[in-house]
Amino acid sequence: MAQNRRLFLKLAGASALTLVGAGAVFTATRTPVRALLPWETAMSGAHGHPRLRALAWAILAPNPHNIQPWLFELVGEDEVRIWCDLDRRLPATDPFDRQITIGFGCMLEQLRMAAAEAGLAAQITPFPEGAGAPRLDDRPIAHVRLTPADAAPDPLFAHAAIRRSDKAPFDDRSIAPDLVAALLEAAAPRHETALIADPDGVAALRDLTWRAMELELRAPAPHRESVDLMRIGRAEIEANPDGIALQGAMIEALNVAGVITREALADPASTAFSQTLGMMRAQIYSAQGYAVLTTPGDTRAEQLETGRDWLRLNLAACGLGLGFQPLSQALQEYEAMAGLYAEAHDRLAPGGGRVQMIARLGYGRVPARTPRWPVESRMMA
Ligand SMILES: Cc1cc2nc3c(=O)[nH]c(=O)nc-3n(C[C@H](O)[C@H](O)[C@H](O)COP(=O)(O)O)c2cc1C
Repeated sequence: MAQNRRLFLKLAGASALTLVGAGAVFTATRTPVRALLPWETAMSGAHGHPRLRALAWAILAPNPHNIQPWLFELVGEDEVRIWCDLDRRLPATDPFDRQITIGFGCMLEQLRMAAAEAGLAAQITPFPEGAGAPRLDDRPIAHVRLTPADAAPDPLFAHAAIRRSDKAPFDDRSIAPDLVAALLEAAAPRHETALIADPDGVAALRDLTWRAMELELRAPAPHRESVDLMRIGRAEIEANPDGIALQGAMIEALNVAGVITREALADPASTAFSQTLGMMRAQIYSAQGYAVLTTPGDTRAEQLETGRDWLRLNLAACGLGLGFQPLSQALQEYEAMAGLYAEAHDRLAPGGGRVQMIARLGYGRVPARTPRWPVESRMMA
C-alpha cells in the first residue's frame, strides 16, 4: 500500500509537470470527444424537427449517476411518450426508484424549457396510466404534447449549456446573503427550498453529509453499484457515455499502473479507496452553503416536481456562478442508512415532510461537461 501511495503521488506530480509542459497535448487527447457530442448537437440545433431539438436538450439534464434511464417514443406529429428503461435503475442506492424519478423530473423541465425556446408549449401529463410503486414498472413516466403557443421563453434556459454538477472542492469564498435571495428568486421552486449559508448550519451539514458519504463508501452493495458504473479513462467513457466518468491523463496512468482499477476502488484496504475517501471529505468540507428541497409527501408526482425544481435551482446557481453538487447519501432508503436518514429528517424537516434533495454550494472552477448517449440512441423503435 505504501508503495502504491508513493506511485500515486509520483504520477500525480509527473502529471502536474506534464500539464505545465508539452504534455498539454497528451492531456487534451484524453478528453472524450464522441461522448460529449450530444452537448454540441443540442447547442447547434442540428436536429431539424423542433420535437427532436427539444429532446436533444432534455437528455442533458442532471440525473443520478448519469444513468440516463429515459426512452422516448415519438407519437403522431407532436407528441412524445416517455418511458423508463427499467434496466437503468440503481436498486442498491435507490431501492424505490425515487431518485430515478427525480431525474425524470429534471429532464421534463429541461424539455419544457427547450420547447418554449422554439415557441412550443409542452403539455406534460405525468404517469398517464398510473405510477408504479414501490418501484417503477413498465407504464409510461409521462406523455408530452408540444403545441405552438405564445410560450414565453424561460430565462433560466440561458444557462442550460453551462449547467453542471460540480464535484470538485470549492474555494473559501463564502456565499453572500443577497446571493442566496437571488438564487431563490431566479429558481422560483414550487416546493419548500431552504438555502443554508450560516456558519453553524453549514458546519452541521458538512458533518452530516460526510458521515453519510463515508457510510455509503463502506457499504458493500451501494458502493459496488457506484464502482460498477465508473468509466475509467477515455476509451471506457467513449464506449459507455454514462455512469461516473473518471478522466484525464493521471487517471489513465494510474489505471495502467494498476492503482486505479474497479477492483482497487471497491477494496476498502486499497490506496485508491483511501484516496477516494480523502477526496470526498475535502469536497464536502469545502461546502460554503447547502440547498435542501422538501416535499410534503413522497408521491411519484412530488418526486417528478422535485426534479423540475431541482433543475431550476441548478440552472439558477450556475447562472450566478455558483457550483452545485447533490449529496444524496443521507436521503437514501437502504437499511444501513436508516439512522442518518432519520437524523437528516429530524434536522431538516422537523415538522414533517420528505427531504428529497441536499446539495452543497460554493465557488470553484467550471467543471467539465459529463458524457451523454446521443438522443437517437434513446428512441424506442
Ligand atoms: C436525484 C439525483 C441525485 C444525485 N445525487 C448525487 C450525489 O449524491 N452525488 C453527486 O456527486 N452527484 C449527484 N447527482 C448529480 C449527478 O451525478 C449528475 O447530474 C450526473 O452525473 C450528470 O452530470 P451533470 O449534472 O454535470 O450533467 C444527482 C443527481 C440527481 C438528479
